[in-house]
Amino acid sequence: MLTYFIPKRCKDASNRKENELLNRQDLANLLRCPETGNPLTGWNGTDAEATLRTACGRTYQVVDGIPNLLPDALRTAEAPEDSTAREKRSEMAARDAQVGSYDQMMGLKLFTSFEVPKTLAFLDLQPAHIMLEGGCGTGRMTPAFVDACSAMVCVDFSRESLRVAKTKLSPKQLEKVIFVQADLSMLPVASDVFDRVGSFGVYEHIPTVATRAGAIAHMARVCKSKAAGGRFSMSAYRWGFPQSLFSEREGHHGGGIYFIRLTQAELRADMEAHFKVEGFTESLLYYHLAWGHKK
Ligand SMILES: C[S@@+](CC[C@H](N)C(=O)[O-])C[C@H]1O[C@@H](n2cnc3c(N)ncnc32)[C@H](O)[C@@H]1O
Repeated sequence: MLTYFIPKRCKDASNRKENELLNRQDLANLLRCPETGNPLTGWNGTDAEATLRTACGRTYQVVDGIPNLLPDALRTAEAPEDSTAREKRSEMAARDAQVGSYDQMMGLKLFTSFEVPKTLAFLDLQPAHIMLEGGCGTGRMTPAFVDACSAMVCVDFSRESLRVAKTKLSPKQLEKVIFVQADLSMLPVASDVFDRVGSFGVYEHIPTVATRAGAIAHMARVCKSKAAGGRFSMSAYRWGFPQSLFSEREGHHGGGIYFIRLTQAELRADMEAHFKVEGFTESLLYYHLAWGHKK
């Protein structure tokens, strides 16, 4: 499924000296065309409006400082023929519509206070690291990650969620972060450049086995190897006691957001396609939380 995507090493970032800070132009240089994997030029990582271009003539717009690097099926087609693309567009619309209510959920606020320290421990995020957050949403956890590392690329396919996430960061924090509208199953960033790749509460919303596998493959592709110090961490809805008593295994949340709950064995097997799983906990009950190194 990755044949359309020609992995490109990013010399700039992979040759980065220890503790060398990346600025927003450096982060913009990591962006790639979602359809071909080719480099994109034309944006300095800061300007509110710009056009990103590939050498072969594809163009992508930056609007309000957020590049739209969605694949063609999600970027242009109003009513995609492909049922997976329709599921994703349905979630994009629902997430855009629900930005106001997501952060107000009382249960989520409480959960966040347990989840963030546990997640930071699994990520082992260090001040020199550059991190990719896959599915940052409204930035519920993003400020904690930004403060713990040197630079970040935050990806989500909901533009309104990205707009809200940006408002959660101070001007100083924003200097080392770019937000990108993109699909994790066709991740438009360079290969082997991130010290840390994290995706929390997202995987369970990716609608098919193939597109979930695509997201894991792409997150592995952009993560540095174990030898280079890379690490991946993710969480996903857990299927098991007590959820199995009162929840559905698979279905749709309000507004048309697909979800599936996974057993530990299922999530481990999905991750093990590309990662050696080194740590796994079910202590968050509602979610599995895991970390591993790229194989
Ligand atoms: C439940 S929210 C979690 C957001 C954030 N990680 C958090 O923990 O608060 C799931 C997020 O994943 C995003 N998402 C789901 N599928 C995605 C995909 N294929 N590509 C990019 N983002 C996706 C949604 O837009 C949404 O913002």
